[in-house]
Amino acid sequence: MEIEQYPSADFNAVATLKWYVDCGVDETISDTPVNWFQYSEKNEQNQDVTIKTATSAKSSANAPLSTNREIIEMAEKLAADAMTLDDLRQAILDFDGCSLKNTASNTVFCDGNSQSDIMLIGEAPGADEDRIGKPFVGQAGQLLDRMFAAINMNRENDFYITNMLPWRPPGNRKPTDGECAMCLPFVRRHIELFNPKMIILIGGTSASALLNVQTGITKLRGKWVEYKLGDQKVPMIPIFHPAYLLRQPQFKKQAWHDLLQIKERLESKESK
Ligand code: URA
Repeated sequence: MEIEQYPSADFNAVATLKWYVDCGVDETISDTPVNWFQYSEKNEQNQDVTIKTATSAKSSANAPLSTNREIIEMAEKLAADAMTLDDLRQAILDFDGCSLKNTASNTVFCDGNSQSDIMLIGEAPGADEDRIGKPFVGQAGQLLDRMFAAINMNRENDFYITNMLPWRPPGNRKPTDGECAMCLPFVRRHIELFNPKMIILIGGTSASALLNVQTGITKLRGKWVEYKLGDQKVPMIPIFHPAYLLRQPQFKKQAWHDLLQIKERLESKESK
């Protein structure tokens, strides 16, 4: 919802904010408008659509024009230069190619055990994650923790977790293909630096970005594939996103089936 600027100099900031909340305002937006039509489903990944590199709300008005291709190349360069997970976090903080950064409160990088062998990759931070700065801490994250607890796994010890996008899309909208393409170099480098023995893709966004397919999660889930990491092939499996299971609890049966597959595979590795 859009609201006009406060009218006078003697306004009370707290009262104004309360008034906004009462009116249903649930987003802060940047000073410069974003033309979302440029991010149409089809043209993003492959075409060089010219967009303004959103450096910051203040400076973007004067920022040079960049194409999607240039932005992706900038991300690839920053990602390739990162030699540690801390470098990568810094590289993402330094990346100004994705306008989601302007509306997010935090850059959400990771949580869990960075010494574990298992990497979970979700979609993007929601409101709670954006506020707290960690992935999967809201309602969906709590369900995810319960799902993994059911197979005796927890994020403190057993896995590491990140997202396709480090910034919350306004209003929790689905990330566009263009946003995923810009962040993919960071996710690929994240995988290289973490060097997992197993990758679990949580939901359709990370599954289609990392598998480079348009197939829906209903078809992809529960099927093992191999992720090529140097000369290794890392087992990777897409599963339903817990936010989807909160909306569609009838699919918990399939989610349980997939969790059992994960557990079985881990146990069979342990026994070797
Ligand atoms: N959903 C995600 O995909 N990631 C989060 O961090 C939170 C909700």
